[in-house]
Amino acid sequence: MAAKPRIAPMPKQPPADKSVRLITPILKWPGGKRWFVARHMDVLPKQFNRYIEPFAGSASLFFALQPTTAILCDKNEELIATYRAIRSRSGLVKSALEDHAQKHSDAYYYQVRATKPTSLIAKAARMLYLNRTCFNGIYRVNHQGIFNVPRGSKDAVMLDTDDFSAVAAALRKAELIAGDFSDAINKAQKGDFIFADPPYTVQHNNNGFIKYNEKIFSWEDQVRLADCLAAAVCRGANVVSTNANHQSVRDLYSSRSFTCRVTSRFSAISGGGQHRGQYEELIITSSSKRESPANEALRPSQQGGRLRDTAIPN
Ligand SMILES: C[S@@+](CC[C@H](N)C(=O)[O-])C[C@H]1O[C@@H](n2cnc3c(N)ncnc32)[C@H](O)[C@@H]1O
Repeated sequence: MAAKPRIAPMPKQPPADKSVRLITPILKWPGGKRWFVARHMDVLPKQFNRYIEPFAGSASLFFALQPTTAILCDKNEELIATYRAIRSRSGLVKSALEDHAQKHSDAYYYQVRATKPTSLIAKAARMLYLNRTCFNGIYRVNHQGIFNVPRGSKDAVMLDTDDFSAVAAALRKAELIAGDFSDAINKAQKGDFIFADPPYTVQHNNNGFIKYNEKIFSWEDQVRLADCLAAAVCRGANVVSTNANHQSVRDLYSSRSFTCRVTSRFSAISGGGQHRGQYEELIITSSSKRESPANEALRPSQQGGRLRDTAIPN
């Protein structure tokens, strides 16, 4: 029988188990789920075999849970390469990042942005340096796949929260896949837990597309994802997913017997200031067992009913 994962305490709370160290994600990522970790751990299954995160990004939930066995997947090859480098050579990646920190300036940022390092360690240090000093931690590449985000306002390259060896130890328990979400979800078996946090796209809304990689995550991808998750549930996996609160997304999941609930949060990282503010998102679960009055589910028949959260920072 597979080992049961430990569920780490919520961030900002002292760990009950002294052997579990709190880990802050090493990257800041658009759509990162630190807010979810701070507010919604109650929707997660209490126990599971393997933890599967098919859209890893900064893997906020993975680092909060520190599961004993996991699969992390993302289409962003540079991101997964960074995790691979930290997993095997965390000390060298940290030293290379410290070197960037010493040289950091606006001009140096653009010099580093223009480089194409070949070694895994230099690639990872470049990714971390750009992530910490670019505009809002955004990852965006042009049609040639070259990172093209301008310099941001932050100068801190080394962070107080950095714990490279703890991040490496957590990553050593994970299989890392640079690929499509289906590569990870199709591995899910009975008792596994999938946390799926895809780019948010809604049907018939080209303006709502979010570009993470060269290729847009299309509505067809959303349908493919919902089918893939439904198949995993049929095999006995437990699913929690997040998405945009839009009728098309609610229909997509409720027609596949998932439960949707609405949550709202404050976001200050949406590019133009006019987009900053209160956002509604969906939390989609494969089971309604965890419903409670304070966690009211939004079912197709009662879509007016909503769970409202207080505003929380990104
Ligand atoms: C909303 S972010 C995930 C954020 C993550 N939960 C966190 O806490 O930082 C979505 C991620 O999906 C990845 N992605 C986009 N298309 C994908 C695909 N087809 N398969 C796997 N990952 C994909 C993006 O590179 C991005 O990192």
